[in-house]
Amino acid sequence: MTYDLEGAGVLAKVTAISDDGYSVYFDFRNGNTGYFDDVDQELSVGDVLLITHDKENNRYDFEEAPSSAWPEALWVGIVRLKLQDISVIESGGRLRKVPTVTVPCYENGYTVLAGDAQGVTKVLSERPIKYFDLPEVDDSVIDRFLLSSEDTEDLGFEDFGGLSTVVARARELIEIPLNEGKALLEIGARPIKGVLFTGGPGTGKTLLARIIAAQSKAIFFEISGPEVFSKWYGQSEELIRMLFEAAAKEEKAIIFFDEIDSVAAQRGDESHEASKRVVAQLLTLMDGFKPDTNVVVIAATNRPQDLDAALRRPGRFDWEIEFPYPDECDRKDILVKTARRLKTKGPLPYDIIAAHSDGWSAAELTQIWSEAALLAVSDNRRQIYEEDFVGGFERVSRYREQARASRPNGGDR
Ligand SMILES: Nc1ncnc2c1ncn2[C@@H]1O[C@H](COP(=O)(O)OP(=O)(O)OP(=O)(O)O)[C@@H](O)[C@H]1O
Ligand SMILES: [Mg+2]
Repeated sequence: MTYDLEGAGVLAKVTAISDDGYSVYFDFRNGNTGYFDDVDQELSVGDVLLITHDKENNRYDFEEAPSSAWPEALWVGIVRLKLQDISVIESGGRLRKVPTVTVPCYENGYTVLAGDAQGVTKVLSERPIKYFDLPEVDDSVIDRFLLSSEDTEDLGFEDFGGLSTVVARARELIEIPLNEGKALLEIGARPIKGVLFTGGPGTGKTLLARIIAAQSKAIFFEISGPEVFSKWYGQSEELIRMLFEAAAKEEKAIIFFDEIDSVAAQRGDESHEASKRVVAQLLTLMDGFKPDTNVVVIAATNRPQDLDAALRRPGRFDWEIEFPYPDECDRKDILVKTARRLKTKGPLPYDIIAAHSDGWSAAELTQIWSEAALLAVSDNRRQIYEEDFVGGFERVSRYREQARASRPNGGDR
C-alpha cells in the first residue's frame, strides 16, 4: 500500500498484526486507518511509530516513538462503581469499564477525567456534575407537586359520569386504607400501597384520582412521567425520594404518578439508564413504606403492557383498575354530569347523542360542550341550545373521523 506522507512524517499506532506477520495495521493520529505489508521490522501491537516516506527510494521508515507521543483520548464521567480491579464510570449516557488505579484517589459519585486504558487520571469534582444548571430540589420544590385544596375544592363524585363499578372499586382500594389503615393492620391484612389505573386516553383516570383525593381530604401530590424526564432530568430519583418522604409525614397522603409508562418502561437493555434508576428508586421507596405509613400511590397509564413487571409484584402496584370506554348508559351519564356546570336551555337530546357516540372516550364527549359553547356564543346566545349541542356533536364526530383516517392502523384504538 502507498501513502502520501508529506513533510516530516506521521504518527501511527500498531493496532493489529496478521497471523503470518506479513501485514501490520495502524491507526493514524488523524483518525485514519491503514496497513503496510512486508514490514522488515519487529513490531508489536500498541507500538507508537513515526512513519516517514523516503520518496526517492520509495521506502517507508518506521521509527519508534515514545508512547506518550500518542496520548490516550480522555473523557469525563461519573464513577458509579469502584472495585479492586475495575471501575465503572458513566459517561455520555453509557457505562464504561476502566482499570482501577490507586492515584488519584476517588470514590463513587466523583466526577473524573479518565481514559479507557489508563483509568481515572484526575478528579474534577467530589460530586456528580450535572449536564446543565439544575434547580435545587428542596422543600419548596416539593410544594409545586402539591395539588392545593383550591384546585380540587369543588370536585366531587357528582362530576364523574358512568363507570360506577370502577368508581366503587377505586374508592374501596384507596379510601379504606387511608381512612381505616389501623383496622386493616389489626386484621393483619397486607397493606395496599399501590393502585394502578389503566385505560385508554381520556377515560377519566386523572379526573377520578383528583376527585378521590379531594373527597378523602388527603394531601395529594401529582407528578407526571414526562415531567420527571424533561424538567427534572438528572434529579428524578432525588425528587421522587423527597416526594415520598414528604407524603409519609402526612396524616394521609396520595401520590399520583400520571403517565408512569414514560418512566417505568420495561427495564430492558434498550431502555434508558435514567429510566432504570427511577424505577429502581420507586421500587425501593415502595418497599420501604412502614406498615403504618398512610400513603397510597396511584399510578396511571394507558400503556400497561409497557410497564416493568417488577412494579406489579405484591406490595407494589398489585391492584389494578381498568377504565373501559363508556357504554351507552355511561355516555349519557357523562354528558348529563358535565352539563351540570354549564348554562343550557330546554331539554337536550342526551339519549340520542349517547346512542350515536359508540367508542367515544369521556374526554371526547366533554369536547362536545366546548364546541357547543362556541356555536352558541357565535350565534349570540348565552346558553347552550339543542342545536348547539347537536352541532357540537357533529363537529367532534368530524374531528374524530379525521384523526382516525390519519392514524396508520386505520383508527383502531
Ligand atoms: N367519567 C367522566 N365523567 C366526566 N368527565 C370525564 C370523565 N372522564 C373524563 N372526563 C373528562 O375528560 C377529561 C380528560 O380525562 P382524564 O384526564 O381524566 O383522562 P385520562 O384517563 O387521565 O387520560 P390520559 O390517559 O390521556 O391521561 C377530564 O378533564 C374530564 O373533563
Ligand atoms: Mg391522565
